Amino acid sequence: MPLPSQTRPALRLGFLASHGGSNMQAILDACKDGRLTAEPEVVISNNSGSHALARARRSGVPAYHLSGKTHPKLDDLDAAILDVLHRHEVNLVILAGYVRLLGPKTIATYQRRILNIHPALLPSFGGKGLYGPAVHEAVLAAGDSVTGVTIHVVDEQFDRGPILAQVTVPVEKNDTTESLAGRVLAQEHLLFVETLQQIERGELELP
Ligand code: GRF
Repeated sequence: MPLPSQTRPALRLGFLASHGGSNMQAILDACKDGRLTAEPEVVISNNSGSHALARARRSGVPAYHLSGKTHPKLDDLDAAILDVLHRHEVNLVILAGYVRLLGPKTIATYQRRILNIHPALLPSFGGKGLYGPAVHEAVLAAGDSVTGVTIHVVDEQFDRGPILAQVTVPVEKNDTTESLAGRVLAQEHLLFVETLQQIERGELELP
């Protein structure tokens, strides 16, 4: 039975994003217009020039660039990311197009509290190197008639961890990588917000 809403702590979101940040923006918009009660607390990007950081600043969300440039040692980067998430009292980490693996300290501390979105139907078309356009290219090369979106809990490996939500997207005969990516991305935005709404309502438990 879901917990009554007063006993569920409010979601305090910390985002990690590498490039466009459109998934993050969809969630920020839903927080702003009341579809979500979650609070966006902080955005971290490994890319100092990312649109994700610009979007965060425009929305008044604290934004940090943390990467191999700011922290050349992987351990130090892991500790720095964890420190920022802690300082902003984040209780749910959202990987929204984050192309790096999180470090072991962050994964262990936020066990079952890190969500990732993947633009295909995992376990198909996931794993190392399969991100961004490469995913859609692989789907088209395989000749599949259906692809989709997966939201899953993150563990130490790329694109593994329990699946929370999936939606299918048909592949059309004349699809290019770009046309397919565009239709999948539109579904990503919807599914991320819906999944967070279900978590907030207590309809979806993090495993
Ligand atoms: C999305 O397709 C997401 O699934 C993948 O990277 C893309 C990021 O898009 N991991 P955006 O940065 O949210 O616009």
